[in-house]
Amino acid sequence: MITGKFPSLRLRRNRKNDWTRRLVQENTLSANDFILPIFIIDGKNKKESIVSMPDVYRYSIDRISQIVDKAIKSKIPMVALFPKTKNKKKNYLGSEALNENNLVCKAIIEIKKKYKNEIGIMCDVALDPYTTHGHDGLIKSNEIINDETIDVLINQSLLQAQMGCDVLAPSDMMDGRIKKIRHALDKNGFINTQILSYAAKYASSFYGPFRDAVGSKKFLKGDKKTYQMDYKNSNEALREVALDIKEGADMVMVKPGMPYLDIIKSIKEKFKIPVFAYQVSGEYSLLSAAIKKKLINNQAILESLMAFKRAGANSIVSYYADRIDKILD
Ligand code: PBG
Repeated sequence: MITGKFPSLRLRRNRKNDWTRRLVQENTLSANDFILPIFIIDGKNKKESIVSMPDVYRYSIDRISQIVDKAIKSKIPMVALFPKTKNKKKNYLGSEALNENNLVCKAIIEIKKKYKNEIGIMCDVALDPYTTHGHDGLIKSNEIINDETIDVLINQSLLQAQMGCDVLAPSDMMDGRIKKIRHALDKNGFINTQILSYAAKYASSFYGPFRDAVGSKKFLKGDKKTYQMDYKNSNEALREVALDIKEGADMVMVKPGMPYLDIIKSIKEKFKIPVFAYQVSGEYSLLSAAIKKKLINNQAILESLMAFKRAGANSIVSYYADRIDKILD
């Protein structure tokens, strides 16, 4: 709908100075828009760098407050916890997911003890950090079995909710799990525990550095194409989201982020619910490496994050979140 025409209409007029550009800006970003992922490891007094993710670290529980303090200070509303499970604790069934003394459980308790409700905690619901095959579900005769996996995910959800997790984020892509998890939560009195469904999660090469960070990369056999989505599809994402909303999701996630802005936009337009975007590890590492090599300047970070807001995302999971003050400055 174009009103007016050149030469009486000149769109450059509104761009001529910084103040007028600020006046007509359509989108903004603040710390409220971010979720900070935190990698955790066993041991004492550890802050370990991750080769494939510059400036991102794995923290032992006793040092986790170092990064949570930072998040709270910048007013980031929520952190997302990801464990790097010791190899000897992994098995074919991923049973460590149900151990009440696992890394995630210990981290939830530690954070809630220290910070109460000052910051939200989100936890993945999936088995990949715990299995010796690196898949998100159970395997039988070479197949990731849906319904049996959900039974385990329900218990993982209940355990994390019981420890104090605020937002459960099933990232496994099994069919029907949101309904069953919601039902189990309600039945056990966790009526206020939120569910953020990774509803549109694509089988993507952009997860590479993350799998390295949680130590599942060298274990992963094959790919995740029988449960994560095919990147050739977009209508399918709407079907996934529609189902998850019906089943009880409070919020939905699109993942990866930047290659899927079209998906974020159409979900937001159709469903009017909170839509989150995950700027995944591969996106982070690509940007960071290019900036380090001076191929692009660091303004590209802000540009990439603003794109999510433009597309309609309410919140962004980003490994840049701990430095957001500086980036927005
Ligand atoms: C596991 C999980 C993955 C990510 C978050 N949760 C990887 C995968 O599905 O293989 C990826 C996050 C990232 O790349 O930053 N269910």
